[in-house]
Amino acid sequence: MVKVSILGATGVIGKNVAFTLARADTVDEIVLFSRPESIDKAKGESYDMYDALAAEDIDCRLSPSSDYNDIVGSDIVLITAGTPRQEGMSRMDLAVPNAQIVRNYAEKIAEYAPDSIILIATNPVDVMTTIALEASGFKKSRVIGIGNHLDSLRLKAYFSRQINVNSSEVHTRVIGEHGEHMVPLLSSTTIGGIPLKYFLKSVDMDVPRLIKRLRNAGNTIISKKGATEYGPAFAISNLISTIITDSHKVLTVSTYLDGQIEDVSGVSLGVPVVLSKKGIAMIVPIHMNDYEKMRFKEAAESVREVTEEVKK
Ligand code: 2OP
Repeated sequence: MVKVSILGATGVIGKNVAFTLARADTVDEIVLFSRPESIDKAKGESYDMYDALAAEDIDCRLSPSSDYNDIVGSDIVLITAGTPRQEGMSRMDLAVPNAQIVRNYAEKIAEYAPDSIILIATNPVDVMTTIALEASGFKKSRVIGIGNHLDSLRLKAYFSRQINVNSSEVHTRVIGEHGEHMVPLLSSTTIGGIPLKYFLKSVDMDVPRLIKRLRNAGNTIISKKGATEYGPAFAISNLISTIITDSHKVLTVSTYLDGQIEDVSGVSLGVPVVLSKKGIAMIVPIHMNDYEKMRFKEAAESVREVTEEVKK
């Protein structure tokens, strides 16, 4: 019996994760947790999803609830609740109000689902990962922030389209902050196992422009449709499925560092990890060029500053 609880299930991301996950048919029960004033919406979402799932003969239990007792026994609890980022707002602008929400939820998760893995999607996600870690008292391996996985998927899609290769041939990664200080790891990007730099000789590609586009990807979508929706929801469902199926994929998530990468410690940042049903099974060693190292350290300082500010 696999159970996933989604805190903030009536939000754009929450409901899309629920539906994507239900359709993947790897989960037995999804708790659509919402505040009491939104419980009718959560019920409505569940009825609507049941209708869709019937068309695919999927029997996943959807449990709308505002009662923490219903998250008992969860394998994974996802926190998506919080003020969403609006146009022009940096992720850091959200830190103070969202920290309070995440802290409160993390304490409840520790009380009602003490054996679960906590996933955090609330922005600024790297800061929120540390907040949830401290508030829950969980082991570092069981508190995981989501952000750079989405950035990495975006970059992979850009390269795939620019070079005109199947996206499964692109291995690339974005680390650091899910925000202005993200660090695309171009030095270790490969296409069909061949380093990207060899392709740059024969493919007409404006890499700096591509990176700028990547950095603004969330904002661009928000400015056009009000919120990002399918991208984050699929990225999150992908991480949840990887954990549930214990498939040991190497994915990029935010985790509290203790000096494993470039001696950075005391801050949560996106780095590649091996994900298993226990959470983070290992932090993958990265080799960066000097520029990437410098940018990674800048990301650490920026996220640390906001984390400290929020903790005051
Ligand atoms: C995104 O990058 C807004 O963080 C969200 O899609």
